[in-house]
Amino acid sequence: MNKIERIGVYTSGGDAPGMNAAIRAVVRTALYNGIKVTGIYRGYEGMIEGDFKEMVSRSVSSILQKGGTILKSARCAEFRTPEGRQKAYDQVKAAGIDALVAIGGDGTFTGAELFSKEFDIPVMCIPGTIDNDLYGSDYTLGFDTANNTVIDAIDKIKDTAASHNRLFFVEVMGRDSGCIALNAGVAGGAEALMLPEKDTAIEELIDSLEEARERNKTSMIVIVAEGDKNGGAYNVAKRVKEKFDFYDTKVSILGHLQRGGSPSSFDRVLATRMGYFAVNELIRGNRSATVGIRGSQIVSTSLEEALRGKELKLDEELLKIAQVMNI
Ligand code: F6P
Repeated sequence: MNKIERIGVYTSGGDAPGMNAAIRAVVRTALYNGIKVTGIYRGYEGMIEGDFKEMVSRSVSSILQKGGTILKSARCAEFRTPEGRQKAYDQVKAAGIDALVAIGGDGTFTGAELFSKEFDIPVMCIPGTIDNDLYGSDYTLGFDTANNTVIDAIDKIKDTAASHNRLFFVEVMGRDSGCIALNAGVAGGAEALMLPEKDTAIEELIDSLEEARERNKTSMIVIVAEGDKNGGAYNVAKRVKEKFDFYDTKVSILGHLQRGGSPSSFDRVLATRMGYFAVNELIRGNRSATVGIRGSQIVSTSLEEALRGKELKLDEELLKIAQVMNI
């Protein structure tokens, strides 16, 4: 096993609060261990183009508290082709990079696994996405911060909803994942949830709103995950209003504001632990894995298992709790 001399670090896919804290931890842990670091800009796109920069300890000063990613991010179609990956490898090799740390979501991990297999280069992945939809970690970077942003918004919407006796449909992010919606439903006290994993029919939603009205609820919040099969909050609101018009109805799409902002303390600590662990795993000889938190422990899971292992499931107990709290 050759000693690692230079690590390349990059962020890819949707940005998430905590990515900068993870970059900082990777850079400083590597430097502490005598390993040089190259920052790869714009994810796989920048890897293909050789958009690289030497990272020293001061390169990551004062980024711990910042949202977004100083390395920028992109979604890159060319990297999905063997030619694109070959170009990326040529750049990586020419820059003397002999191991990688990838920070992102499942698209990032899929690219990293392919790249590591094709060119026999060690890669550690750090789960960074507000969606919390990666197997191998109880929490992904940015999920906690995004939830705090969502709760802040829902609390404010509740004030005005209650004042006007209104029914609000609040759309939160999550193309394939209802994690933010479910968490916000419990933390924000929503009356109903529409989740991509559940396929709830509009009639079923109307029945539950009708029952809530009979229980003397004067205003209501329905949280709709972006990926709900009924087509988002505007569609759900329109269809509900056709049959259930007891309340004035409003829609609020929270959108990309959920992705920004200063990371919470939880995300900063998690990112720092994950970045530290990722570099140490590379030093220990781990050649392809994702870092995660299970309980309070930072652990590694093979990319094979993380990407094709057990199916990710919604927390059914939390869903039940959300229902019970709504009586
Ligand atoms: O994966 C994170 C995420 O924020 C999803 O919840 C959302 O569907 C998607 O990214 C939006 O991506 P983009 O910013 O590229 O439109």
